[in-house]
Amino acid sequence: MNVGGLIEEAQVSALLDLEEEIERLKKDLHAVVLAHYYQDSDIQDVADVIGDSLQLAQQAAQTNAEVIVFAGVHFMAETAKILNPSKQVLLPDLQAGCSLAEGCPPDLFGRFKQKYPDHIVISYINCSAEIKAMSDIICTSSNAEKIINRIPKEQPILFAPDQNLGRYLIKKTGRDLTLWPGTCVVHEMFSEKKLVQLMVRHPHAKVLAHPECEAGVLQHADYIGSTSALLSYVKQSKDTEFIIATEPGIIHQMEKACSDKTFIPAPPDGDCACNQCPYMRLNTMEKLYLCMKHRAPEITLDEELRLLALRPIRRMLAMS
Ligand code: 13P
Ligand code: SF4
Repeated sequence: MNVGGLIEEAQVSALLDLEEEIERLKKDLHAVVLAHYYQDSDIQDVADVIGDSLQLAQQAAQTNAEVIVFAGVHFMAETAKILNPSKQVLLPDLQAGCSLAEGCPPDLFGRFKQKYPDHIVISYINCSAEIKAMSDIICTSSNAEKIINRIPKEQPILFAPDQNLGRYLIKKTGRDLTLWPGTCVVHEMFSEKKLVQLMVRHPHAKVLAHPECEAGVLQHADYIGSTSALLSYVKQSKDTEFIIATEPGIIHQMEKACSDKTFIPAPPDGDCACNQCPYMRLNTMEKLYLCMKHRAPEITLDEELRLLALRPIRRMLAMS
């Protein structure tokens, strides 16, 4: 543990109005703060843009800002850097990874891919630049079905790294995808048994789930979609009570948009807070402020790798 860093964080939190300081630094640096829905509420409130993985990648591709501050996880900030080589991309905590990205190491994936030379590779954006560089098209949970449906039926597809999303897509598209066996540590923790108990206690609640959840949880869902799709669903729905089977950070925007509706987080298996993403939640207001103040940690990338990873991201953006 970095003791100096911890002391600095405690000092800034005790002495400064962090919201005000972050606003000041945004202007000084000509920076934009992009935040994912799974960030703490105070980070979402200070962000310029809040979105799902696709929306944040699209914003990163369009921004005129000189500095991109990514309140999200490493693969998201790395995607922003791939799209913006000349801009500085900051991530409040470099340890903010993702179990899907970490569970798909490039050497093993390279050998896996070699076994399927006739397959095209569609990779979920939750992967490293090295995996993106080995992929033909990138997708997110909001465009995966559309992208797969656009691939000719006779073309075999290798889908990586989320097997739960992959199984959901097999069901939705009727395609026989070859899957890399990765999972999200957050979405695989939802307990089907506890979800059913909650449904019995709240018989009028609609169940909304992210496709990274296991099939046992998804089978109870009234609606399945990406974080932004779940948010849109509650906004337009006439129902007033919802059980939310995804990282509960999204509930902040749901409550802001629909103050008259009730949102109940789906329970994880065990008495833990493991429905919160341990990587996303490494970012704090203190670290957000400090990364802007010190202009570090910064995402850097080898140019050859960046160019290889850019092609499948561009294809996704063109197909979205
Ligand atoms: P979306 O925001 O694309 O729904 O993805 C959820 C997620 O797990 C991001 O890491
Ligand atoms: Fe990765 Fe899951 Fe966290 Fe999203 S919620 S960043 S998929 S570990």
